Amino acid sequence: MDTAMTNEYGPWGIVAGGSDGVGAAFAHEMAARGLNVVLVARRVPVLEAFAEEIRAKHGVEVRAVALDLSAPGALAELASATAELEVGLFVYNAGGDDFSTPFLDKDLDTHLQLIHRNCDSVLEAAYRFGGPMVARGRGGVVLVTSGAAWVGGATLAAYGATKAFDLVLAEALWAEWRSSGVAVLGLVLGKTDTPSMRRVFDAKGEPYGDAADPSDVAREALDHLADGPTWIFGSADPTGGSPFGAMPRRDAVLAMSRASAPATSHAPATSHAADAAAAPGTDPSE
Ligand SMILES: NC(=O)c1ccc[n+]([C@@H]2O[C@H](COP(=O)([O-])OP(=O)(O)OC[C@H]3O[C@@H](n4cnc5c(N)ncnc54)[C@H](OP(=O)(O)O)[C@@H]3O)[C@@H](O)[C@H]2O)c1
Repeated sequence: MDTAMTNEYGPWGIVAGGSDGVGAAFAHEMAARGLNVVLVARRVPVLEAFAEEIRAKHGVEVRAVALDLSAPGALAELASATAELEVGLFVYNAGGDDFSTPFLDKDLDTHLQLIHRNCDSVLEAAYRFGGPMVARGRGGVVLVTSGAAWVGGATLAAYGATKAFDLVLAEALWAEWRSSGVAVLGLVLGKTDTPSMRRVFDAKGEPYGDAADPSDVAREALDHLADGPTWIFGSADPTGGSPFGAMPRRDAVLAMSRASAPATSHAPATSHAADAAAAPGTDPSE
C-alpha cells in the first residue's frame, strides 16, 4: 500500500465514469495504491462486474453507484450515496463524445446533456466534494479534459467548449486551493485506447492507429497529482502550453477544423480525431 497516497488522498476516492477506459484505469491504480473506491457509471451490469474485479484484485472496499451524470440531480444523489465516506480524491473522467457533427445536425437536447455531464456536473462535483477537502486541508481533484480544449474547431463546438470549461475550471481551482493543501489537476489527453475510442473507429472501419494506454495515463496522472494546474499526457513538456503556441487564433481554429473533419463524406467526424491531431508533438497546422 502507498501510505503517502492514502494519507494525502484517502481513505476513499471517487471515479465519475469509472467502469471502463481511462476511468477504469484510474480505479485500478487508486485501489492498487490502497484507496477504497466509489465507481460511477450508467450500465449496471458493467459497473457491478468491474466493481467485483477491483475488490477481488486489490482487496479494497468498492461502492458502485449507478447514475447518469447528464441528468439533473445526479451529483446530489452521489453526495447522498457517499455521505458517510471521507472522500479524499475525486476524478471526474466521464466526458467523451463519440460522434462529432456540425453543430446544427445534432438535436438540442443532446448538446444540453453533454454540457450538463461535462460542465454542470463537473462544477457540482468540485463544489460538493472539494469543499470538505479544503475544510480538511488535504485532498485531490482531477478533471479529465482533452486536446480539443485548446481551440475551437468545426464539428467540435459543444465538446471542445465543455473541455475548455473543464481545463479552465481546474486551473482556477488549483490557484484557489493550492494554499489549502488540496491538489487540482487538469489532465489533458490526446487519443487514448478506450472502448469509447474503439467504438468510433470500428464504426468507420478505420484502424485505431497510435493511442495512449489508459493505464499509463492513470499512473502518470496520480504520480503528478501535485504538479498541477495542468498535465498534458504524452507531451515532452507536460506542464507546458498549448501545442498551437503563438499561432494566430484564426489559423489555429482552421487547423483544428481540418483535424476534426471527416475523412470521407460518409464518415462521421470524431472528437477523437481532433484529440489526436491536437495532441502535443503533432503539428496542428499540417
Ligand atoms: N479516449 C480518447 O481518445 C480521449 C481523448 C481525449 C480526451 N479524452 C477524455 O478522457 C475521458 C475518458 O474518455 P473515455 O474514452 O474513457 O470515454 P468516456 O465515454 O468519456 O468514459 C467512459 C466511462 O464513463 C462512463 N460514462 C459515460 N457517460 C456517462 C454518464 N452520462 N453518466 C455516468 N457515467 C458515464 C462510462 O460508463 P457508462 O457508459 O456505463 O455510463 C464509462 O465508465 C473523457 O473526459 C474524454 O473527454 C478521451
